[in-house]
Amino acid sequence: MAGFREYKIGARIFGLALSGSMSITLFFPSINIASTASTDMALAKQLAVGHETGFNLDDPFLKGKNKPLVVSLKADPKTGQPLAQQQTVFVYNAGTTFPAGILHPRILGTGVEELSVQQGHIEDARKDAGAVFAINKAVYQGKQVSYIEDLTTIKGWTPDDVMKVAKDEDVSHAGAGKTMFVREGCWWCHTLLPEETQDWQVFGAPPMQGDFNGESPTAFGSDRKAPDLLHVGSRNSSREWMMMHFFNPRLVQPHSIMPRFDYLWGEKDASGNTIDYAKWRSEYNDYREGKRVTPPEVPSYASNSEIRSLIDFMLSLK
Ligand code: HEC
Repeated sequence: MAGFREYKIGARIFGLALSGSMSITLFFPSINIASTASTDMALAKQLAVGHETGFNLDDPFLKGKNKPLVVSLKADPKTGQPLAQQQTVFVYNAGTTFPAGILHPRILGTGVEELSVQQGHIEDARKDAGAVFAINKAVYQGKQVSYIEDLTTIKGWTPDDVMKVAKDEDVSHAGAGKTMFVREGCWWCHTLLPEETQDWQVFGAPPMQGDFNGESPTAFGSDRKAPDLLHVGSRNSSREWMMMHFFNPRLVQPHSIMPRFDYLWGEKDASGNTIDYAKWRSEYNDYREGKRVTPPEVPSYASNSEIRSLIDFMLSLK
């Protein structure tokens, strides 16, 4: 009799575990992730990085082509008058593919979709003419929501207008920089995903649901051998440090295992002079052997170099 009762308890526990696991299997796929409203982070990320990063027809050799530019606008592009408040805009030159949220507003999520279409007029944006987007805020059903605006439709600002008033230092090539991040395999060592553990004390807040709407690929990374980089621009915003560290990580972290990425400087430096890598390395070896007191100086990069894009991307990770 006693044994029989234990079988009954066991059978109930088994039934509970099985139905629990079945309901997870059946219920989870029915959650509509697209109904989660995009956060500010998701909107800014997809507008800065544009459509699909990586190997595709728009950029088969992963050169960072077909990517938008992020501009800190200080003057009105129509009148040239200084703006009362600096404004961030996302410039899609004619022919640049729009990000998923513009092509399929449904994935922006509840509220963001309605505002972006009705007030932001994103469906009027045309790839062949190019467009200038911005993020704005409005109240939707009693809640403050961020949404995308097409300023080409709303204000008549064209990509050319904006690029005419923008100085080079106000322009970020973060979108092309993400291509460099993917192409160079930074994700073998670095994650872009602080975990829901004590991780956040070092690497900053773990992301929220809705932070990734429209981003492709997310480049989370899986196996971490190096610091998480999701918020690296908040803890280290020095362009000079980034330059030294990418040219040769040992210049700033003597025992770093990170490879050098000096070749991303390309052939010419900022003044158009050919970079003599062999000379640099032999001087660096002299420094390591104690024959020089200081390491050779890292060349300043050309404004259209790949390293510029990569550093712009790093500093955009706030
Ligand atoms: C072989 C592994 C490896 C690869 C590949 C690698 N890194 Fe690193 N990275 C490290 C390690 C280890 C550190 C920590 C030591 C240091 O600062 O060099 C680091 C540090 C950094 C830091 C400073 C992080 C901080 O917290 O301040 C940045 C930024 C960075 N890496 C960016 C990159 C980028 C971008 C790429 C690809 C172009 C890359 N890394 C590729 C291993 C790697």
